[in-house]
Amino acid sequence: MLDKKLTLNAFKAKKNKEKIAAITAYDALMAHIFDGRVDMILVGDSLKMSFGGECSTLGASVGEMIYHAKAVSHAVKKSFLIADMPFGSYSSKEVALKNALRFYKSCEIDALKLEVGADKLEVVRALCDEGMAIMAHIGLKPQFMRFDGGFKVKGKSEAEAQSLIDLARNLQEVGVFGLLIEGVVSEVASKITQSVSIPTIGIGAGGGCDGQILVWSDAFGFFDTFKPKFVRHYLNGKELLQGALDSYVRDVKNGAFPSESESY
Ligand code: KIV
Repeated sequence: MLDKKLTLNAFKAKKNKEKIAAITAYDALMAHIFDGRVDMILVGDSLKMSFGGECSTLGASVGEMIYHAKAVSHAVKKSFLIADMPFGSYSSKEVALKNALRFYKSCEIDALKLEVGADKLEVVRALCDEGMAIMAHIGLKPQFMRFDGGFKVKGKSEAEAQSLIDLARNLQEVGVFGLLIEGVVSEVASKITQSVSIPTIGIGAGGGCDGQILVWSDAFGFFDTFKPKFVRHYLNGKELLQGALDSYVRDVKNGAFPSESESY
């Protein structure tokens, strides 16, 4: 439990001291429940899939992400808060600066996250130089799933592993304060973590990262259509909610709800 706001410096200082626990949130209701219990909350563009029912994150717009980031920021007082920049919103330095500044000015977030490869180093540098805290998302990048032909685990070949390690070092050099490593062979994610002095947060990247993140609807069993190998269900959320819903429907149908004390 956090007793006060986790600042950027306090977040970075967790490296090699304490594992970082992170979760996604897309609205104020869930963010209020999570705030202060996790180190980091991410307004991820995964909301397009888990809440929008779409089969990729590609459709997220800057306006939609700002809407959700604003809602979450209203509830987050302690956890470190990051929002995703959506696909296409950082295609060049100019486009990235315009959109990132729009985010920064319109919502109370601590940082932004971008899915990047070596081709985006100068874009990331421009955002960091402008004074924005940037987390780089490397490895399996869901925004590039069409380009990649699906959600493919990275770092399987020696060349791919080395280019991920080089990318991580270069991203640190241009100024990112942290890395999110998704869908990467555990041994490679551990090597990346040991190669940089900034924290790494893993998802499907094994236990060697400095922290872990899960999409909340996966972690709590609300999304159970399929369960990726890296997901652990900490609650049977769907079953519990359906049970409660069935009780409500039963009470309405048989007249047990509302009672006199629940009426004016
Ligand atoms: O969009 C998202 O939720 C993410 C996950 C990897 C946590 O980036």
